[in-house]
Amino acid sequence: MSTLMDDIKTTKDALDKARDESIISPRFYSTDYAAVDRIDITPVRAEWDAMMQEFRDDPNGEHFQRDDAFRARVADLEPELRAEFYDFLISSATSEFSGCVLYNEIKRRVNNPDIKELMGYMARDESRHAGFINQSLKDFGVNIDLGDLKRTKKYTYFKPKYIFYATYLSEKIGYARYITIFRQLQRHPELQFHPIYSWFEQWCNDEFRHGEAFALILRANPHLLQGHNRLWIKFFLLAVYATMYVRDHTRPALHKALGFDPTGYDYEVFRITSEITRQTFPLTLDIDHPRFRQGMETLRELGAASELARKQGGVLSSVKRLWLGAKASVVFASVYLIPSKANALPERVRLAPVW
Ligand SMILES: [Fe+2]
Ligand SMILES: [Fe+2]
Repeated sequence: MSTLMDDIKTTKDALDKARDESIISPRFYSTDYAAVDRIDITPVRAEWDAMMQEFRDDPNGEHFQRDDAFRARVADLEPELRAEFYDFLISSATSEFSGCVLYNEIKRRVNNPDIKELMGYMARDESRHAGFINQSLKDFGVNIDLGDLKRTKKYTYFKPKYIFYATYLSEKIGYARYITIFRQLQRHPELQFHPIYSWFEQWCNDEFRHGEAFALILRANPHLLQGHNRLWIKFFLLAVYATMYVRDHTRPALHKALGFDPTGYDYEVFRITSEITRQTFPLTLDIDHPRFRQGMETLRELGAASELARKQGGVLSSVKRLWLGAKASVVFASVYLIPSKANALPERVRLAPVW
């Protein structure tokens, strides 16, 4: 049964959901802009220039236009599927907009011409993506006031290197998530219950390209990929994978409608993401290790119990959630200690989105 018991009925509910601070909700970030300004991409100049030309050519400039499929009345969805689909759209729009806000802010605060130009193009793309999802939410009367969200959502400060690890990963995992759904619906067009999925293939090429930009930034600064930073990379990989696993399992009806079980879908996304991140990261997680799989399941159970306690409210529930949080940290640490797989970095960084 769906764990999303709060139904979203109004634009205010949508804004509250987008502002949600739970551990699995998308965040907004701020960083040390002066340090980002000092990034030097000279060591990867040739690959960088080729990538920037793609951004200037703007292959998706005309892609985000709605067609008649959106005007046709969208079939009435079952209440559980509807709740989970809204949750998916709101959380996707929030993370798209999170990128838009961060990239715009970096663009505004730096003078470095390479970084400034890049951030301008990425903010352009993310703004299109967030706006496109928001139009679909508007069809249901539950669109997000993005201006209000920008003003009122809490911002998390991350040092630049953490921004690079986290954003690189979220762009690449975003690509893997969208392309896996798109390929599934290519095989099973009868399962497509909403037109937005038809946009995912070209859309995720934008995410792939954003990921390429961070891959080049990281490879241009090899110290970010060596020594004790390897521990940070492992931490971010596991944190991003675990968050996705827990969050996706709160949407069983949505996955079922798309012909997936959430576990199978998530491992396909992990597999693609692990393959891609070998362009940049000196290690990948051992996602097929039995203790990894068991750990993900335990984190999912603890996450579900914590969410239930949160909804029950009261003092006891806070104590219970603290206890569950402590247990989750222990499980997280034990999965973290599973040996990772070493990876030798390829000489040429860039990849094509071929999945
Ligand atoms: Fe995006
Ligand atoms: Fe992106």
